[in-house]
Amino acid sequence: MEENISKTPVHVSIIMDGNGRWAKERGLERVAGHAEGVESVRACTEAAVECGVKYLSLYAFSEENWGRPQDEVDALMHLMFKSMLGELSNFLDNGIRFIVLGNRRRLSKELNEAIDDCMARTDGNGRLTLTVFLSYSGRWDILQAARRLAEDIAANPGLDTDDMDMHALDRYLVTAGIPDPDLIIRTSGEMRLSNFMLWQSAYSELYFSDVLWPDFRKQEFKAALQSYSKRDRRYGKVK
Ligand code: FPP
Repeated sequence: MEENISKTPVHVSIIMDGNGRWAKERGLERVAGHAEGVESVRACTEAAVECGVKYLSLYAFSEENWGRPQDEVDALMHLMFKSMLGELSNFLDNGIRFIVLGNRRRLSKELNEAIDDCMARTDGNGRLTLTVFLSYSGRWDILQAARRLAEDIAANPGLDTDDMDMHALDRYLVTAGIPDPDLIIRTSGEMRLSNFMLWQSAYSELYFSDVLWPDFRKQEFKAALQSYSKRDRRYGKVK
């Protein structure tokens, strides 16, 4: 079902926000908002497949989110673990390649093993690449890329700092091989990037929705794609 969307973005990234407020409005614990948010993840993934989007990226847990109360951090990690295992057959049935990117050294051994397994089993799939950003921040990514690039230049007498161009840095970011996002969506009325894909978002179109993430379903996702299809992207040039 290729809905009535004339120009489909190749890569859509989402800053999923508002789970806590959704729960509070209902007198529930914050974690109930996160659990309901998983249903929106499923709905938006389905919508992305239906619309022919090739890459869907989700900002699930930032480096800064480690500063949340320990019980909320534990609940989010558990939810991630459970959802990933629960969705594996769905990924396999629908040709979805599943990837986790971020500072994986901070994740538990158990979660890392489950991630490795899920990534290996979905590796050959090509209909949609679903990337979950876990323990990720844009500044962390740029810093780790610059550090590794500098180390390689120092270790290789055939290279010098003139080889440190934008394309070279691209290859050291955790997103190497994934095209920059065409569209970045943020839910819940907040209008900022909050340290998400800072390098990669240079020419992304931004879409802000007042809808809280647990209520952001197929219809809302497709409305964002409609808005994107009307944008005039000039990449700093004149048309
Ligand atoms: C932001 O809402 C949401 C998060 C930090 C977590 C998002 C995680 C999920 C939806 C769960 C699982 C994800 C996957 C990929 C299976 P908030 O808590 O900042 O809400 P608030 O701003 O209203 O407090």
